[in-house]
Amino acid sequence: MYTIIDGKKISTQIKDELKQEVALLTEQGNRPNLAVIQVGNDSASSVYVNNKAKACEYIGIGSEVFRLDRDISQEGLIDLIDELNARNDIDGILVQLPLPDHIDEKSIINAISLDKDVDCFHPANVGKLVSGEGIFKPCTPAGIIQLLKRNNITIDSKRCVIIGRSTIVGKPMMNLMLDENATVTICHSHTKDLEKITSTADILIVAIGKPKYITANYVKEGAVVIDVGIHRMENKKLCGDVDFEGVKDKCTAITPVPGGVGPMTIAMLMKNCVESRKSRLT
Ligand code: GUN
Repeated sequence: MYTIIDGKKISTQIKDELKQEVALLTEQGNRPNLAVIQVGNDSASSVYVNNKAKACEYIGIGSEVFRLDRDISQEGLIDLIDELNARNDIDGILVQLPLPDHIDEKSIINAISLDKDVDCFHPANVGKLVSGEGIFKPCTPAGIIQLLKRNNITIDSKRCVIIGRSTIVGKPMMNLMLDENATVTICHSHTKDLEKITSTADILIVAIGKPKYITANYVKEGAVVIDVGIHRMENKKLCGDVDFEGVKDKCTAITPVPGGVGPMTIAMLMKNCVESRKSRLT
């Protein structure tokens, strides 16, 4: 028998906890505020941005959404970020990615003030994460840690295999799992004998970007499987990087897609906004 790790339920728990914290902060005149910037009108980005604004509203965090023309110059975008950096009432600045080709993503991320970088994408904040100093945790990996802990899944001393080495998921996931005393292996597109390595995992975290790629032969009997992928299939249904139906009976616990990791990313973004406000209190 396997447990379905319910990201929707756990993200709501976290948002409800934050709601209480934000009510207290707001009473004291310290409501957290998030600025979200979207460049252009890519439909997937619009959905993500709207979901972030909705989560803010649910919790009581103030949100300002800036929808900029696709043709805005890099300088124009940096001017807006500078303005928001200087505003005392703004605690978090999030620039929705991807950006149009004429804008250099790294320059934009570098323009965000370190103490408002609620995505935890700025290289200096990544460095702080590695050295265990930062106030922000990268949202998707931090959400996965919460999914495990709130399902009473022990991380300490477990063998964790991560597939994917992105700066947003794979690499920071490694750091957070190490902080929890797991033994961590990262696999990627050049890894040989992937199946052999993933079959050793007590906890398998999959961010490979290929629909239903991970089948039962990649999974150890009794493993916990976390699926970071999300894809729209031809029949319009969503699926992950893991072949859920083929894998589930080998697992003790598994995340569904949708309703697994996805909702956690936004919940942890909200947590970073609250932490940012709290770090600014005198
Ligand atoms: N685009 C897709 N996911 C994310 C995210 O977590 N943060 C930002 N800024 N852009 C994204």
